[in-house]
Amino acid sequence: ENFDFGMVGLGVMGRNFILNVADHGYSAIGLDTDAQKVEALTAEGTGKQVEGTVSKEVFVKALKSPRKIMLLVPAGKIVDAVIEDLLPLLDKGDLIIDGGNSFFPDTNRRITYLADKGIHFMGVGVSGGAEGARFGPSIMPGGPKEGYALIEPIFRAVAAKVDEEPCVAHMGNTSAGNYVKMVHNGIEYGLMQLIAETYDVMKRGLGLSNETIGQTFGKWSEGRLKSFLVEITADIFKQKDPLTGEDLVDKILDKAKQKGTGKWTSQNAMDLGMPVPTIDAAVTMRGISALKEQRSQASKVFDQAKPELIADEQWADTLEQGLYSAFVITYAQGLAQLSAASLEYSYELNISAVARIWRGGCIIRASLLEHIRKAYERTPALKNLLLDDAFAEILDSSHNGLRSVLKLAIDTGIPVSCLGASLSYFDAFKSEKLPLNLVQAQRDYFGSHTYERTDQQGVFHTEWG
Ligand code: 6PG
Repeated sequence: ENFDFGMVGLGVMGRNFILNVADHGYSAIGLDTDAQKVEALTAEGTGKQVEGTVSKEVFVKALKSPRKIMLLVPAGKIVDAVIEDLLPLLDKGDLIIDGGNSFFPDTNRRITYLADKGIHFMGVGVSGGAEGARFGPSIMPGGPKEGYALIEPIFRAVAAKVDEEPCVAHMGNTSAGNYVKMVHNGIEYGLMQLIAETYDVMKRGLGLSNETIGQTFGKWSEGRLKSFLVEITADIFKQKDPLTGEDLVDKILDKAKQKGTGKWTSQNAMDLGMPVPTIDAAVTMRGISALKEQRSQASKVFDQAKPELIADEQWADTLEQGLYSAFVITYAQGLAQLSAASLEYSYELNISAVARIWRGGCIIRASLLEHIRKAYERTPALKNLLLDDAFAEILDSSHNGLRSVLKLAIDTGIPVSCLGASLSYFDAFKSEKLPLNLVQAQRDYFGSHTYERTDQQGVFHTEWG
């Protein structure tokens, strides 16, 4: 009984996370049913206080009380199966942490189920991929505070650091950790698709070479668009295909897969009545990308995008403004969803803290997040980032870039669902008057659904026609 920390699931994420824990002076033991994975951990952990086992009994017995056990196993039924496996061996006061991308209602169910048995259960978002897990992820814990107190020192030690501040904070009650991670991923889908559309505008719209495109992203990543996703994009354009020696990006099939977190973000936003159109469009575009055969067929029927010669030297600045404003608008949508969810599910989220721990370690880390953190610190109850004075100013000066990019895309036939959804969200958000008075009139016309008036209180109905 002398290990500080236990990890169930020694896939690449679990293995890297446990090695990270050991690097910070905590002893750690890993459990996996696959002996090869246990061996891989032991091999990599040589010289560290790390052990692996295939026996759950050995694993549980080896842990100091109260036990701190983290699961990094695929979301879904496997999480329940692992919990059932461990449960008879655990004692009251032990802590189980689910570090996977679990669906947040599952976490609520598990918290209640395990609280009845005296076990603390937490749903914790972990972002940063394999590299993050090994050298510093962003960690989004939610659930019982007593449970968090047990694991806080370890999480603070292993998390990414920004200005020496660890990228971890207790997000809120019940499934808050999984919810915040889900929206993180929704924003991730949005930003990725915005970058891809900007690439398409450069390639098929302006006829630029991969080299120029890569260099352009590289230059942007040194400015206000500085972010992990823009940086890796610049890198991707440098990679040659080992098989043919050509640019690898051109060899990759244009069908994007998804594991569900982006879709859940959109689905739940709809349930809450919170608009996140950039994220919706990103999920939809992954769906359209999957219809490869039908797209191939249609491409033979319809005219194809034709590059416009670049008449204007400002193209790079215009695209930068477009991408930057769309990034801001996407974060604004995701964070507004978090504020609404916090009220609906009593999470008690602190959005400034969310922005703070997203500044390092995670996939959507970006220098922009420091400004977002400050905006929510200034006004904790901010309903939407676009209502913050500093961001209003940024968008005022940059959104016309987005408009110009869209004009070019539409003229040349490039699909820009996410860039377009971002601009429309912005244009709608800043319109005091929208044409939905007509929708209300139509609803009342065909269904007597009633309407409210601009000049009087009350509910009205008209016998139309
Ligand atoms: C992260 C990532 C991680 C995973 C995505 C990929 O924050 O480290 O978001 O959780 O790579 O879930 O999602 P898709 O497979 O759905 O694109």
